Amino acid sequence: MDSRRLAYLKALDIDVWERRDGSARPAVARVETVAAPAVRARTIQSPPPAVEPKIQLPDDDGGVSRLGWEELATAVRSCTKCPLHATRTNGVFGVGDRTARWMIVGEAPGADEDRQGEPFVGRAGMLLNSMLKAIGLAREQVFIANILKSRPPNNRDPKPEEVRACIPYLYRQIELVNPALILCVGRIAAQTLLDVDTPIGKLRGTVHRIAANRPMVVTYHPAYLLRSPVEKRKSWADLLLAMRTFETLQSGATA
Ligand code: URA
Repeated sequence: MDSRRLAYLKALDIDVWERRDGSARPAVARVETVAAPAVRARTIQSPPPAVEPKIQLPDDDGGVSRLGWEELATAVRSCTKCPLHATRTNGVFGVGDRTARWMIVGEAPGADEDRQGEPFVGRAGMLLNSMLKAIGLAREQVFIANILKSRPPNNRDPKPEEVRACIPYLYRQIELVNPALILCVGRIAAQTLLDVDTPIGKLRGTVHRIAANRPMVVTYHPAYLLRSPVEKRKSWADLLLAMRTFETLQSGATA
C-alpha cells in the first residue's frame, strides 16, 4: 500500500494492521479481497441490480432539462419553486470539475453551505475531502452537488414536495457533467435517487444504475461517520467498490 493512502486511512481513523515484516494493511483489507470478484461480476456482466431504480422526474421540469451550465446556475440561485427560498441565504448550486468522471451527491446544504453557497464545506465536507483523497481524488477533480439546493431549516429532512421541485436541477447537472460514476452519500440521497425506503445498510455494496443507466455506489454520509466513526470501515469498503467499479468501466472503455 502506498504511503499516501496509508496516511489518509490513518487520518480517517481506520485501524491499520502492522505486519511483523513492517508492511501495513488497513484492517478492512479482507473486504477488498473478498469483494472484488462479486463487484466485477455485477459490473461487467450487468445482471439485474438488487434494487431496481425508479427515476421519479416530475412530468414538467419547467424547461430545466434544456438549460446550459450558466443558465442552470442562475436558475438554482434565484429559484423560488419551494418555500425554502424564503429562509435560505444562498442557493447552493454545486462545485467542482464540470467534466468530472466522478460525481458526489449529498442531501442538502447545512448552515455552513448555506452561508458560503458551496456544498460540503463544513466538518462533514472536510471528512468527505479526506474520503476522496483516500482514493486518490482531489475535491477539485469531482463534481459535488446535493438533492436540495436550499437549506431546510434546522437541517430537517427534505420534504417530498421540496425534492420534487428541486430534483430536476440535479438530474440536469448529472446530464451535463456526464460522470462515469456517481457516489451517493447518505440515506436520504440514496433513498431519493433510488425511490425506495430501504435502509442504507442494504443499499450499500451494490452497484445501482440511475439517470440513463449510470453506475451509482452508496455510502454513509460523512456527517453520520463523524457521529459513528466505527462505520468508517464500511465506508472504506464502499469507496473500494466505487473505485473498482470505476476502474472496470475504464478498462472496458479502453479495451
Ligand atoms: N450535507 C449534505 O448532504 N450536503 C452538504 O452540502 C453539506 C452537508
